[in-house]
Amino acid sequence: MALDPVHLMERKRVDFLVLGSGIAGLSFALKAADHGTVCIVSKDRPLETATRYAQGGIAAVMYDPDSYDKHIADTLSAGDDMNDPEVVRMTIVEAPDRIRELIDWGVRFDKDKSTGLYDLAREGGHSEYRVLHHKDKTGLEIQEALVRRVEAHPNIELLDSHFAIDILTQHHLGEYITRRTKGITCYGAYILNKRSNEIFTVLARTTMMATGGIGMVYNTSTNPAVATGDGVAMVYRAKGLIEKMEFVQFHPTSLYHPPDKPSFLITEALRGFGAVLKTLDGKEFMQKYDPRESLAPRDIVARAIDNEMKVRGDDHVLLDATHLDATDLIFHFPTIYGKCLSIGIDFTRDPIPVVPAAHYLCGGIKTDTRGRTSIQNLYASGECASTGLHGANRLASNSLLESLVFSHHAATDAIERAKNTPWCLDIPDWDAEGTVLNEEMVLITQSLKELRSIMSNYVGIVRSNLRLQRAHDRLEILVRETEDLYEKSVVTTEICELRNMLNVAHLIVKMAYERKESRGLHFSIDYPKTAESN
Ligand code: FAD
Ligand code: SIN
Repeated sequence: MALDPVHLMERKRVDFLVLGSGIAGLSFALKAADHGTVCIVSKDRPLETATRYAQGGIAAVMYDPDSYDKHIADTLSAGDDMNDPEVVRMTIVEAPDRIRELIDWGVRFDKDKSTGLYDLAREGGHSEYRVLHHKDKTGLEIQEALVRRVEAHPNIELLDSHFAIDILTQHHLGEYITRRTKGITCYGAYILNKRSNEIFTVLARTTMMATGGIGMVYNTSTNPAVATGDGVAMVYRAKGLIEKMEFVQFHPTSLYHPPDKPSFLITEALRGFGAVLKTLDGKEFMQKYDPRESLAPRDIVARAIDNEMKVRGDDHVLLDATHLDATDLIFHFPTIYGKCLSIGIDFTRDPIPVVPAAHYLCGGIKTDTRGRTSIQNLYASGECASTGLHGANRLASNSLLESLVFSHHAATDAIERAKNTPWCLDIPDWDAEGTVLNEEMVLITQSLKELRSIMSNYVGIVRSNLRLQRAHDRLEILVRETEDLYEKSVVTTEICELRNMLNVAHLIVKMAYERKESRGLHFSIDYPKTAESN
């Protein structure tokens, strides 16, 4: 089809389109950029990602007595044996190479001054000290180093404040696509420039979905506001395969300080350092739930806290570090120390009030070991992807690692694939005809409040068939109303995010309802765990 010059000006053509500027998107971009043009789209500032807030660090086997087999066993045990063993081995064995690459890109991990070796921390579910970190702000260290490298690369264009609305497939060429259609192919995405409110087309030979998590569908979450599940929703709408959405991880210890949105994380590494969980009367309780006590895997600790709070009628529990050396504590956890002090808590003297918060999505867009999704020319990596590494519950500090490993594999594959993939020039530009500006924000904000309240009350740490059925019925109404509004409205980030969060919530509820057992993070009172199922 011949294109007029204006038409051409409105579009971009790139070899690699990357949606998301966290560790998954940036590490993919840096590798792809040596082989073609890259456009990274980030809906906020490039630094505003979940990656930036990571505290604990990255798990990797570095020294004796640790071993790949121990890290593998811990990952499988945390994942309730729902992990893909091949993926687990591949990821863990590759970890040291990916860590070295991060160091080459400028990331500084803490070292023990006396030995010169990396100072490894321990977190819940880990049988050894194996978490590389940069104080308690590992994510910021990584995010800044990667953004610096990306900004210096001549082949990379980074578009901040740009929102990906939908990926482009044969559907946009007028073909009828269902979940059974074979050969669905991604040709790029429609992108909203949030500053000018213009929507333009980016045609790409290959596209990487790296849009991160979904924490914003819950009232209380450690995730930044960008975590609205856009990538999962886009792929679902494009009829791609999504799986294991029922496995939403709640971090056991976020700071109990209700005005904070998002909730401030108190890293598990603090428990690895010796801090212990207590009820408000100062009594330890984890011994009742697991021999590993405060360092049991997250699903167990979060459920134990939830149970103690419900039984006692308390709205939080305590994390007590007051018996530890104050100077050491402040040296290793300066961010937590500063945050707690800002609300009047000196954690060297006072226990920290903590509560579980939605933290991480273990499922998502299904990929193979090369990061390929079920849609051709579309890859996924990072929190939006379901690679098989985490199973029913992610082991702490395995997420940053997973992003690095799968973005590496995806880049290797995409570089080859892009060589033989033409742009699809027949894709039409965005059609806004017949839409009007929605002037009633309350239609969006009220639905969002309802969505979060449904998910928090019915689809949280403990579930039941009745709660899930209620959630399903109420969400249906919100979905109907929102789709109707979306059809009529000039597109804005707010309406798109609401629509995406409703898609994601629907998938969580549907998959949770279909799972007729308690497994890992999915715990239903209708299917109590028995000795055999443990
Ligand atoms: P993100 O880093 O979240 O990046 C997503 C990107 O996608 C952002 O740039 C966002 O703006 C962009 N985006 C989303 N939707 C769109 C759209 N529609 N259009 C354009 N751009 C879009 N894991 C560990 O392994 N170790 C830890 O110590 C650790 N600590 C954590 C602490 C906190 C507080 C949190 C929240 C998470 C932590 N995690 C940790 C989990 C880990 O940080 C994340 O899973 C990981 O960083 C996800 O990386 P990502 O690249 O997939 O997504
Ligand atoms: C933490 O530091 O406790 C978070 C680690 C993670 O989510 O992997």
